[in-house]
Amino acid sequence: MDTRTLGTTGLQVSALGLGCMGMSQSFGPRPPREEMITFLRAAVDSGVTLFDTAEVYGPFHNEELVGDALEPVRDDVVIATKFGFAFDEDGKQTGVSSRPDSIRAAVDGSLRRLRTDAIDLLYQHRVDPEVPIEDVAGTVKELIAAGKVHHFGMSEAGVQTIRRAHAVQPVTALQSEYSLFWREPEDEILPALEELGIGFVPFSPLGRGFLTGQVTAQTEFGEGDIRATLPRFEREALEANLALVELITRVADRKEATVGRVALAWLLAQKPWIVPIPGTRRLGRLEENLGAADLELTPEDLAELDRASASVQVQGDRYPEAMQKMIDR
Ligand SMILES: NC(=O)c1ccc[n+]([C@@H]2O[C@H](COP(=O)([O-])OP(=O)(O)OC[C@H]3O[C@@H](n4cnc5c(N)ncnc54)[C@H](OP(=O)(O)O)[C@@H]3O)[C@@H](O)[C@H]2O)c1
Repeated sequence: MDTRTLGTTGLQVSALGLGCMGMSQSFGPRPPREEMITFLRAAVDSGVTLFDTAEVYGPFHNEELVGDALEPVRDDVVIATKFGFAFDEDGKQTGVSSRPDSIRAAVDGSLRRLRTDAIDLLYQHRVDPEVPIEDVAGTVKELIAAGKVHHFGMSEAGVQTIRRAHAVQPVTALQSEYSLFWREPEDEILPALEELGIGFVPFSPLGRGFLTGQVTAQTEFGEGDIRATLPRFEREALEANLALVELITRVADRKEATVGRVALAWLLAQKPWIVPIPGTRRLGRLEENLGAADLELTPEDLAELDRASASVQVQGDRYPEAMQKMIDR
């Protein structure tokens, strides 16, 4: 697979990474651990070099899984993880926390679980309104100087916060939601990232599975599936939003490609410094998604996709209210 460079600090990764969250949460029951270890190693064999996890996924389970699976190939891969949530004694998430001592403790825990001496890319998962972002960036700067972290990232941060952080410690990548289902980053975020030389890692690049054509108006989201709680996936919104998938399907049919592959190729075509991280737990789907790196969309295809997404007003918020409040603007 082609590689891309994130940020001016020069982090080279495969054009598509792998989102690992679903192996521990958000999409129903956890698949068997051994199966996921085999799957993660197969992803390395398929050319994926960027693996995305977080302390909060599980919590903790996902980092342990990723650490275990990638230990034999540690030098060949880039591991990205995230700090920024607080937990009670039972490991239950209780809110956000980016106090310098919490960041340092989170990093030590991540290093242990990931079985590594250094985290390649460390994101702040959500901005903590109680802690000046300069203090957060300064703490990560110290961790970089100590050799525990190589690159600094942010997630769902607003433009002003990114600028302030970047002035203290250059930000290598921003990870926020972006896809044909959610194009808000185009207004302010992408121009700012371009100006500052910061890479962009779109999460939920398949719209949490919506942009694959596998979700229908009849789909029931089971126990432990986050989509059961998201306004965009409520029955009425879902039915309206399927108009978008229908329009993308027209392009996909013409290109003899799947809808998901077109959705990922569209993201890759937006900027050469964009690296989507679709999540899957199935080898067939991984291969399908990685094929997007070889799918060339013509200017006409891209214009048609732009027209399609402009013609469908996506219904329903992307998060419930409590999660929406954690987004920095
Ligand atoms: N920074 C943040 O706040 C944040 C938030 C959300 C996610 N993330 C990161 O971004 C990654 C990806 O986001 P995401 O998992 O939310 O959404 P996504 O990648 O848009 O979609 C994942 C969903 O699509 C399904 N899927 C994947 N490939 C498919 C294919 N080819 N055909 C049909 N279905 C397919 C997956 O099911 P199967 O697994 O069963 O294939 C899963 O249900 C996560 O793993 C996580 O690392 C970060």
